[in-house]
Amino acid sequence: MNDYIVELEDIQKKFENVLILKDVSFGIKERETISICGESGAGKTTLINIMGLLEPPTHGTIFWEGQKTITYGIEKISQLRAKIFGYIFQRCNLIPELNVIENILFPKRITSKIRTSDIEFAQQLLRLVQLGGFEERNVLTLSGGESQRVAAVRAMINRPRIIIADEPTGSLDEKSANIIMDMIINLCREYGSSLLLITHNQLFAKKMQTSYVLNNSKLKQLDCLESEG
Ligand SMILES: Nc1ncnc2c1ncn2[C@@H]1O[C@H](COP(=O)(O)OP(=O)(O)OP(=O)(O)O)[C@@H](O)[C@H]1O
Ligand SMILES: [Mg+2]
Repeated sequence: MNDYIVELEDIQKKFENVLILKDVSFGIKERETISICGESGAGKTTLINIMGLLEPPTHGTIFWEGQKTITYGIEKISQLRAKIFGYIFQRCNLIPELNVIENILFPKRITSKIRTSDIEFAQQLLRLVQLGGFEERNVLTLSGGESQRVAAVRAMINRPRIIIADEPTGSLDEKSANIIMDMIINLCREYGSSLLLITHNQLFAKKMQTSYVLNNSKLKQLDCLESEG
């Protein structure tokens, strides 16, 4: 038994006989911050989809909280996924038919009924990212940076153990990207979530404790790469 929240063991992934991931073993611990970089098409999103059981690996084993996930049914997967992961994407994927607070509470509805305390927590998070009073706003009227902050708050609503941020600032200017990145890091610190950040931005990658690069289907820790010369 180790202390990984989520662990991948010897993962291989092929799409139509094209090898995307080979022998990937990797885990995330409590409160750990990790970055993964790699060229477009390297397989970064595929890797996090496999981690969240949104995509099956061709070979390999996925453990959630020390248990092999292969035996889990769909219902258990969906409940546990909502508890373990909060996702923030490059294009925020806010639901246009729902206003700001309804978007934020959406992942909560997957796991339980909405209580007053959930609404209060959503409001507290909104204030933390300087969007107090935005609860009823139509998400189509938000700026890119505001949308991304709402997406970050939505990822946090279940107090997940791991926030997965897939290029969360890729569509923003440098100043807004810096502000949002710091907000995501602060939210994770405040609520004790681990952070897995996929980014092309080396400055953001350096803010994480551990950095990996995905290249030629292999995941390598950056320090190892440097020591290999
Ligand atoms: N369902 C699929 N069927 C076939 N090929 C796929 C599928 N999903 C992804 N791929 C391919 O697998 C490769 C890895 O895709 P992935 O989205 O993981 O890359 P990425 O590293 O996240 O890239 P980016 O930085 O552009 O987001 C790409 O070549 C992509 O076209
Ligand atoms: Mg991607």
